[in-house]
Amino acid sequence: MIVIDAFMLLVVLFLLYILMRLVRNDAIFIPTPKKQIRRILKEVGLSKKDVLFDLGSGDGRVVEIAAKEFGCKAIGIENSIVLYYFSKIHLRNVNNAKIIHSDVFRVNLSDATVIYAYLSKKLMKMLKKKFEKELKRGTIVISLDHEIPGWKSIKRIKTGHFYTNIYIR
Ligand SMILES: C[S@@+](CC[C@H](N)C(=O)[O-])C[C@H]1O[C@@H](n2cnc3c(N)ncnc32)[C@H](O)[C@@H]1O
Repeated sequence: MIVIDAFMLLVVLFLLYILMRLVRNDAIFIPTPKKQIRRILKEVGLSKKDVLFDLGSGDGRVVEIAAKEFGCKAIGIENSIVLYYFSKIHLRNVNNAKIIHSDVFRVNLSDATVIYAYLSKKLMKMLKKKFEKELKRGTIVISLDHEIPGWKSIKRIKTGHFYTNIYIR
């Protein structure tokens, strides 16, 4: 009985967390299917020379594919402590992969050559200023599901039930 009560409490707390993030229009953890990640990274021509940042890296799947299959340096930034530890442990033996526990707004992105972002409409709007201030000219910005207001995409591809926009800073 105590086990069921504890489980119900966890379910309720988890639902409250999701509700809170949805009300604040924050990005919740919805992983990109691996097939779509490979397709998008191929589309932008990701290579060993690149430095990819995944803003809100979730379980680390984008970082893992970029580092292992494309050979580039890949850095994930994740603000959920659970997902941070999960991905950090999972990727502990991948030398060219790194996960940072932080809010995306606290990390300098100027080393990036490719940005991958699957966040919310509100966050992409807020990130625009940071991108314009920090990113080098020529940096590729991949935004899943949301547009960057005022930026003109160079490519728009259908990925599952939504579009992915590709920009060059
Ligand atoms: C839609 S998921 C995408 C996960 C992964 N990038 C992928 O494509 O599979 C968004 C992730 O961003 C994280 N996130 C949301 N806001 C964030 C912020 N301000 N700073 C860092 N991570 C954030 C969430 O915890 C979640 O794991």
